[in-house]
Amino acid sequence: MAILLDTGDLAQVERFHRMGIIRGVTTNPTILLKDGVTGGLKGIEARGRAIAALIAPYDLSIEVTSNEPQEMIRQAQWLAGWADNIVVKITVHGPNGELDNLEVAHRLEMEYCIRVNLTAMMSAQQGFLGALAGATYVSMFAGRVNNMGYNACSEITKLRLLLDRFGLKAQIIVGSTREVLNVIEWLEAGAHNVTVAPQLLERMLVHPYTKETVQMFLRDAAKLTLTS
Ligand code: E4P
Repeated sequence: MAILLDTGDLAQVERFHRMGIIRGVTTNPTILLKDGVTGGLKGIEARGRAIAALIAPYDLSIEVTSNEPQEMIRQAQWLAGWADNIVVKITVHGPNGELDNLEVAHRLEMEYCIRVNLTAMMSAQQGFLGALAGATYVSMFAGRVNNMGYNACSEITKLRLLLDRFGLKAQIIVGSTREVLNVIEWLEAGAHNVTVAPQLLERMLVHPYTKETVQMFLRDAAKLTLTS
């Protein structure tokens, strides 16, 4: 895997999936709200099912809407029931540092055989603990890490070294992309995947000098075909 799309916008998923360049989709409640999901849990289900069906067998990560342990487990079963390629996102701890989340993630992976993406991580140490708990994915928000004045690349590299050294199955997803250059630099630092917003993915591809070159080719091709 390499590049995931960080969106809840079905049209954007269709567009980039058709190009064959994405290996999965990640969402969160903020993204779904921004991308126009309405109708409460039913609306989330409709959008989630549509994206999961479109990208199968690649994974869709979709987040629970509560931080209450029993409700997280109940929602995880509901989300995972939609399709085989659903991964349930749970934040690494609660809004006030509540520690139930790792236990919930561990139980979901071990007892319920539900794959978990532990999210909203800001450090290698959080990722390491999440991986020890058995998460399938650990998501680091590297743009936010950089914004706090820490070096996201070094956290990613440390985390990857730890996962490899201790043979932990978790894959790193790095999100919170802010600049086009983040994608390659974070993959280079050791991320298994970088999840990218659609606008940024488009900017990764389009280059002004490529435009100019293609325009030259087409101009000269027109002259060539005229003189035949
Ligand atoms: C990753 O899984 C998240 O959805 C996302 O990248 C968070 O990014 P933000 O910092 O732009 O909210």
